[in-house]
Amino acid sequence: MVTSLPSVALCAALCFLLTTPFAHSQSPERAWLPKPLEPKNNPSSAEKVALGARLFSDPALSQTGTYSCASCHQPDKHFTDGRKVAIGATGDSHTRNTPTLYNSAYNASLGWEDLGLYSLETQHLIPLLNQDPVEMGFSTELLAKLQAVPSYQTDFARVFSDETTSAGVLTLNNIVMAIASYVRTIRPPLSAWDKYLYYDKQSVLSDESKAGMSLFFSDRLACSHCHGSFNFSGPIQHAREETTPVFHNTEVDGSSLSFRAPTLRAIRHTAPYMHAGQLPTLQAVIHHYESSSAERVPEFQLTESERAELIAFLETL
Ligand code: HEC
Ligand code: HEC
Repeated sequence: MVTSLPSVALCAALCFLLTTPFAHSQSPERAWLPKPLEPKNNPSSAEKVALGARLFSDPALSQTGTYSCASCHQPDKHFTDGRKVAIGATGDSHTRNTPTLYNSAYNASLGWEDLGLYSLETQHLIPLLNQDPVEMGFSTELLAKLQAVPSYQTDFARVFSDETTSAGVLTLNNIVMAIASYVRTIRPPLSAWDKYLYYDKQSVLSDESKAGMSLFFSDRLACSHCHGSFNFSGPIQHAREETTPVFHNTEVDGSSLSFRAPTLRAIRHTAPYMHAGQLPTLQAVIHHYESSSAERVPEFQLTESERAELIAFLETL
């Protein structure tokens, strides 16, 4: 299959993806996925993941009792919120667009910029405790309320069984550990691209999207130079590979800041795009790249049909 594909660059990219070792698969469906890294002090278990999922969507973790992680990372919106920038529990506006949590487990850095956040456990403290802007407004009072909920007492005691009293186990630290174990399991739905690449289902990609694939992996457009690996993102890390995050400035809206290349998985569902949701559509994103003179973004112009092809390819991810 690979040898019949059009360009050498494309072949190199696909060969890399195809040779990703198959050990550590999480489910038979995703045999190609390496196991994400997890901190030694937070080994995953099915019960911990289930507790984390419950906490993720529990509004009792917010100041107003109406907001949860899932208010911004909405599962039915592919863990985004459809807004340009996020709005917190008390109505504060965030400066950034809510990213999807698909494959966050693999990101070498978390958040759009280099925020110094390299583990989910550290990241989760930000939305819980951030005061400017307030995202959830978690507090010691809310912690005490959670500690009084019998079902949480039982669940935390079971999941964190090496600790002694229930007040000792229902801590902010353990809340964060459970949520992180859950977030580590969030994966994009199996896409047309996955079926094409990993199951050799040639017919799931139209000719148009195959032409778009060649454009995506070409040196002319260089999309894959920054959006790489099975995650179509900046550097990832996993149990077989630790890596260093990389940030680029693509000068969206004249911005002079550098950002991590976000995943393009499920990208057709997660508009608006870019760090502050400046670009409403994939058409606008492509137009941005065509008119960008940023470092590492080559100068190129697409024909109308090439633009449609590239979008058709992005829609398979
Ligand atoms: C007010 C909306 C909002 C809430 C509530 C919220 N988030 Fe986020 N989340 C965001 C935004 C916005 C970003 C990007 C922040 C940045 O880069 O500055 C983000 C980034 C993240 C990231 C980094 C993703 C990546 O791959 O880079 C993770 C992980 C995450 N949030 C998990 C959570 C968890 C867990 C909770 C609940 C404890 C939560 N979020 C609550 C809006 C929210
Ligand atoms: C120099 C590295 C680089 C190159 C080359 C590059 N990107 Fe990006 N891409 C980024 C960065 C960084 C961002 C986030 C920029 C921001 O938010 O300001 C991004 C954002 C995006 C987004 C929005 C994702 C989201 O969730 O908001 C899409 C879609 C996208 N790129 C597609 C492409 C396509 C298609 C190409 C090829 C035409 C391409 N990129 C080339 C680095 C790159």
